[in-house]
Amino acid sequence: MFTLVFAVIAAIILFERTIFNRKYKSIRNKHVVVTGGSSGIGKCVAKLAVRYGAHVTIIGRDCKKLDTAVEEIQKGCYMVGQKVQGVSLDVCDYELVKAEFSNLEEKVGPIYMLVNCAGLAICGKLENVSNEDIKTLLNTNFLGTVYPTKMVITKMKERKEGIVVITASQAALVGIYGLSIYSASKFALRGFAEALDMEMYPYNVSVTVALPPDTDTPGFEMENKTKPTETTLICGSGGIYKPEAVAQNLIEDALRGSFFSTVGCESYFTALLCVGMTRCTSLGELIAQVVLMGPLRVVGCIFLEYFYAIIRKCLYD
Ligand SMILES: NC(=O)c1ccc[n+]([C@@H]2O[C@H](COP(=O)([O-])OP(=O)(O)OC[C@H]3O[C@@H](n4cnc5c(N)ncnc54)[C@H](OP(=O)(O)O)[C@@H]3O)[C@@H](O)[C@H]2O)c1
Repeated sequence: MFTLVFAVIAAIILFERTIFNRKYKSIRNKHVVVTGGSSGIGKCVAKLAVRYGAHVTIIGRDCKKLDTAVEEIQKGCYMVGQKVQGVSLDVCDYELVKAEFSNLEEKVGPIYMLVNCAGLAICGKLENVSNEDIKTLLNTNFLGTVYPTKMVITKMKERKEGIVVITASQAALVGIYGLSIYSASKFALRGFAEALDMEMYPYNVSVTVALPPDTDTPGFEMENKTKPTETTLICGSGGIYKPEAVAQNLIEDALRGSFFSTVGCESYFTALLCVGMTRCTSLGELIAQVVLMGPLRVVGCIFLEYFYAIIRKCLYD
């Protein structure tokens, strides 16, 4: 019975996505800015944007990383005059962000899409996370998204078009052992995105929140160095995804105007279970939520029990 219901819902979602939901926005000849575009998920997003015909600006702090990434991204250009540039900038510094973003439009053109990918994870039980790391996490993940977003929305509203992508995480939906500050910074982004989506709705500007699972990037490698065993065991159940796959879903979901962008089953079902009062962007989504939320709560509780068992086991080992 459950399999039948599941199959019907999957068919509705697939049908709606492929047949009805063809109102994709286009980024051909449009200016796409990707913060954190010199590495990992952001770099893959920038490469895809170029393949979709966009002019791309990537932002990061390290000039060397930016130059290498620009070279790689440029290889994907296929139209005469397609522009790719790197801008060295700390997204946590409001004055710098303000100054650079006004230059960006003059150099490359109106910003049509902003993809906020700059971010990092530092793990550890709360008592072991330094105050310096707490500030870095909150500044980079939260303010480093809010500042660039604040710089683009006024003009997007005037032009009555635009897309803002906010890269959160699965940890924006579920608090996980060893990720208290990281989760807090990403939960904050989800609240920010929901409110901003409501503000931007009358102006044809869409907001998409990407919820990547563990993804094989230089950032993930760094994160693993600070991960407690419990966190590794709990997060390990979801597997590791390629940044290209995360980027592909992020761009497609953003162009489609979906509020959440997920990758893989675990990410999809977690987003469905934690949807709350988030705006529903398709009929298939609504049907899936109405039918599956009850059963998924049971599955979620089973997973939580498994996570708590891991924590108990690690404590007594
Ligand atoms: N990888 C995962 O498993 C995973 C899972 C869920 C969510 N995410 C999120 O996805 C986003 C990208 O992660 P990733 O794994 O692709 O990271 P990554 O490979 O470490 O890339 C991070 C990018 O952000 C830039 N950056 C960091 N701090 C910055 C700052 N203050 N100002 C400007 N640029 C800055 C980095 O360049 P510079 O260092 O040169 O500044 C780099 O280009 C992050 O928000 C992360 O939290 C990742």
